[in-house]
Amino acid sequence: MILSPSLLAADLANPATELSALEDAGIQWLHLDIMDGTFVPNITFGPPFIRALRPGSPLFFDVHLMIEKPASYLEDFREAGADMLVVHVEADRHVRRTLAEIRALGMRCGIAVNPGTDIGFLRWLAHDLDMLLLMSVNPGFSGQSFLPEVLDKLRVARALLEEAGAADVPVQVDGGVCPENAGILTDAGADILVSGSAFFAHKPYAARLAAFMRAAETCPPRRAEKNARSWKRRGSL
Ligand code: DX5
Ligand code: ZN
Repeated sequence: MILSPSLLAADLANPATELSALEDAGIQWLHLDIMDGTFVPNITFGPPFIRALRPGSPLFFDVHLMIEKPASYLEDFREAGADMLVVHVEADRHVRRTLAEIRALGMRCGIAVNPGTDIGFLRWLAHDLDMLLLMSVNPGFSGQSFLPEVLDKLRVARALLEEAGAADVPVQVDGGVCPENAGILTDAGADILVSGSAFFAHKPYAARLAAFMRAAETCPPRRAEKNARSWKRRGSL
């Protein structure tokens, strides 16, 4: 399992300090939640903030775009230093084209899916994405409760990826994730877990990471997880 802490729940008055604390704790990924106030009822930060963080950090920047018309901003996020761009299937009419453009810009690409959205599209898109993100809350805010029906969806996603010959595509789960549900999520097929409030509220971060890893330990590393681990940070992609 890979843990990708969501910066939204960190101390945003001191982001550089937070990033070096994460690095010291052994964290390798950072989840950045971009919200535009239209696709979701909240506004966070954009490319300038990512650009400010990039030079000081070797973390893999996993950028979750909760914005309308994501295709209009791909180069901006690439220039800012994103390693992966994840677009919502609900926000883009031509998501296959957008995925190809993200790859062509040298980044990893992913699709995010709201809790109420079907994932039948995996039959047609499995080979066009580097990661699938299943939302386990309605996107927009940190600190919401995990929706348990996502567990079934996770199993279905794994089966669809397998059937499509894309079992090495990692699945990320985002929203309400905590050590109490990390084991059941990895067991059901999650490779990457995002955690905001349940991670940042507990220091030291190394101990919190260990609590998540212990909870996920029941499940041996998956092929998809190994694939995601081997991704290099931008610059060496
Ligand atoms: C929700 C965001 C999540 C959120 C996670 O819209 O996509 O990444 O910040 O926060 P927690 O773990 O607190 O639910
Ligand atoms: Zn997110």
